[in-house]
Amino acid sequence: MRVLALESSCDETAVAIYDSVQHKVWDKVYSQLALHQSHGGVVPELASRDHIQRALELTDALFQGSPFSKSDIDAVAYTAGPGLAGALLVTAALGRSMAYGLNIPAIGVHHMEGHLLAPMLSDNPPEAPFVALLVSGGHTLLVHVKAIGEYEILGESVDDAAGEAFDKTARLMGLGYPGGPAISRCAQRGNPGRFTFPRPMLKSPDCRMSFSGLKTATREAVLAAEPLDEQTKADIALGFEEAVVDVLTHKTLKACELSGCQRIVIAGGVSANQRLRAVLQARAEAKNIQLNYPELRLCTDNAAMIAYAGAIRLAANTPEPLSIKTFPRWPIDTLPALD
Ligand code: KG4
Ligand code: ZN
Repeated sequence: MRVLALESSCDETAVAIYDSVQHKVWDKVYSQLALHQSHGGVVPELASRDHIQRALELTDALFQGSPFSKSDIDAVAYTAGPGLAGALLVTAALGRSMAYGLNIPAIGVHHMEGHLLAPMLSDNPPEAPFVALLVSGGHTLLVHVKAIGEYEILGESVDDAAGEAFDKTARLMGLGYPGGPAISRCAQRGNPGRFTFPRPMLKSPDCRMSFSGLKTATREAVLAAEPLDEQTKADIALGFEEAVVDVLTHKTLKACELSGCQRIVIAGGVSANQRLRAVLQARAEAKNIQLNYPELRLCTDNAAMIAYAGAIRLAANTPEPLSIKTFPRWPIDTLPALD
């Protein structure tokens, strides 16, 4: 099966073709980074307008760079949620219309299931059951993946998502957007131990997490140290990153303990974080737990993961009727099981 996928849930316009026979993907991503940078974060209305301008051109470029023409496509997958309401509608409408025009099925895909399945595109895909740490700009959740399609949420952030905390802290320190890579770069020059920030909810016996207290503590440190010199910035960035990584690592291992899983998959934008990968790898190895993550370009938003998720859902479920539905809020544990 060859699935064309379209994704526009936030600030990346992305398109991909997944060929399930070859287990191979062709994809293109256009990032709106420059558009939102001066605003210090994503402006939803600007995002929707730009997706409308880019999506068709990007789809044409995708076909030109692939061995396929539109008549080779068997189905269309589009991100139906969660995400920014207006942004989601762009590729949902486009994807549905393309499928209608080509007389092939279309399916709305859950963005976080897409992230969760991104490591499946590697040559050595992880096998369920496992614990998935899904960490992005909008979500931070721990999921017990009993089987692909069968998800139990073990815990999530009760306030900010980890990526959101990175973005807001970077903005506060004048480090630019997106905040995750900016803080990481800055933290590389940091002196360990100068700033130690709180690890909220670390001791709670469950998998719930919190990042807003950490954000506030970092803000207070920034205000107390102003005007910030470059070294202090780096030291604060390091203290902040260490605290986030410590909480994520601790709670992920707690999720393994509670679910009995000996495998972890991390996915979503924050899973690109090198400190998170290294610390989690070391602490998991000490407990004989295996760690899988997607290749770097598939950590942040892309349509390759949507194409793959669409292909497995289409193989299992009946395609959807001729209507366009999007779900800006959509809990992953409400997805139907795969047959
Ligand atoms: O998955 P994603 O591309 O979009 C959403 O679905 O939200 O995640 C974007 C988030 C942003 O908050 C960004 O700051 C964060 O992922 N991020 C990182 C890194 N790269 C991206 N956070 C920490 N370290 C990184 N290297
Ligand atoms: Zn995402």
